[in-house]
Amino acid sequence: YSHPSVCWRLVILCFLPLCLFSGWLSSSVKPLHHDSRSRNVTVLLWHWPFSRSFSLKGDVCWDLYRIPHCILVDERSYFPSADVVVFHNRELQVGLHKLPTNISRPSSQKWAWMSLEAPSHNGNLHKYADIFNMTITYRRDADVSIPYGMLLRREAEEHVNEDNSVNKSSLVCWVISNYKSHHKRSQVYNNLRASVPVVVYGRWTKNRLPSSELLPTISRCYFYLAFENSLAKDYITEKLWRNAYEGGALPIVLGPPLGNYKAVAPPHSFIHVDEFASLNEMGKYLQQLAEDKKRYNEYFTWKKQWKVKRYTDWRERLCNICSKYNSLPKHKVYSDLDAWVNANTSLNI
Ligand SMILES: *[C@@H]1O[C@H](CO)[C@@H](O)[C@H](O)[C@H]1NC(C)=O
Ligand SMILES: *[C@@H]1O[C@H](CO)[C@@H](O)[C@H](O)[C@H]1NC(C)=O
Ligand SMILES: *[C@@H]1O[C@H](CO)[C@@H](O)[C@H](O)[C@H]1NC(C)=O
Ligand SMILES: *[C@@H]1O[C@H](CO)[C@@H](O)[C@H](O)[C@H]1NC(C)=O
Ligand SMILES: *[C@@H]1O[C@H](CO)[C@@H](O)[C@H](O)[C@H]1NC(C)=O
Repeated sequence: YSHPSVCWRLVILCFLPLCLFSGWLSSSVKPLHHDSRSRNVTVLLWHWPFSRSFSLKGDVCWDLYRIPHCILVDERSYFPSADVVVFHNRELQVGLHKLPTNISRPSSQKWAWMSLEAPSHNGNLHKYADIFNMTITYRRDADVSIPYGMLLRREAEEHVNEDNSVNKSSLVCWVISNYKSHHKRSQVYNNLRASVPVVVYGRWTKNRLPSSELLPTISRCYFYLAFENSLAKDYITEKLWRNAYEGGALPIVLGPPLGNYKAVAPPHSFIHVDEFASLNEMGKYLQQLAEDKKRYNEYFTWKKQWKVKRYTDWRERLCNICSKYNSLPKHKVYSDLDAWVNANTSLNI
């Protein structure tokens, strides 16, 4: 820690007087914010999520994602001029990094709280009252929404007449590494397997799949259990967007309520556990569906009109801040971040 602290002193010694002198902290800078839409937005990432950094050389947001006027940096010396400073929650929670609460914040600068975890895995957020100005998370009502996946309409209708029921050797498959008997998904699994066979892969059964085998394995199943480990609004992860849709098995989903899936996932592309009065009934339905090619394939016709876009690179998520920047409120404070993260009340499904 001695090295960063020396840097810090340098930063503060060099930049603070400069800021004050040039009026960075005064209102004289404000007209620039409203003037021109082509003004550059500077986004400072305070620390990289999970300590894995990526190259920010060149104009990354433009070069990789065609997002203009977006300067993405990870050098803390940019602090005085950053429009947005992004803090990934996990490293703050485990104490790997700290909020720079002892240096003064430029008045128009926005501090952003970023996390892709479900509420129960975000740790204690009570200490972050009155700190952040924006949220960056998978929720649709976040200031910058970075879902695990999203739907895009195809420009031209795609011809999809393949029979999705070929090459299937298992009825229902589940990939599970962290089995906890109290999880709702475990109870659903145990009830479901009483009526239909479920093939289980993953660390839990010591039937691990190398990552190169994940999608090919799922493709040989009629149904894939896309069961989330946390039930929270909008918390729909790569289990659906990648494993099921890219694997080509019909997803059985367990997560937020049916209406939440309907609002974000392709129409008629999944089966929600809540659609059935009992798991025995669901089991019967799955068996019938697997025997009825036509009805089974109807669950894949969405691919004609829609395609799935997934976010996998933190740089793309961060560049998205610039696309949203001009429509963000000029002033906003999360006076109770914990309540916002854990709220069900604004469930807008
Ligand atoms: C602010 O805090 C950091 C780390 O906690 C420390 O290294 C730095 O010296 C502090 N700066 C001032 C101006 O107190
Ligand atoms: C915005 O940033 C680009 C790339 O760093 C730079 O060439 C350009 O001059 C900047 N524009 C403004 C208005 O500051
Ligand atoms: C079915 O499996 C065979 C053999 O693995 C493969 O050659 C063929 O392309 C597969 N068909 C489809 C539609 O995936
Ligand atoms: C950001 O939040 C801080 C802390 O509550 C607040 O003082 C500041 O005015 C807010 N800034 C903006 C641009 O919303
Ligand atoms: C949110 O909903 C979940 C599941 O319905 C429930 O367990 C939790 O207590 C609710 N939280 C709040 C803050 O209402």
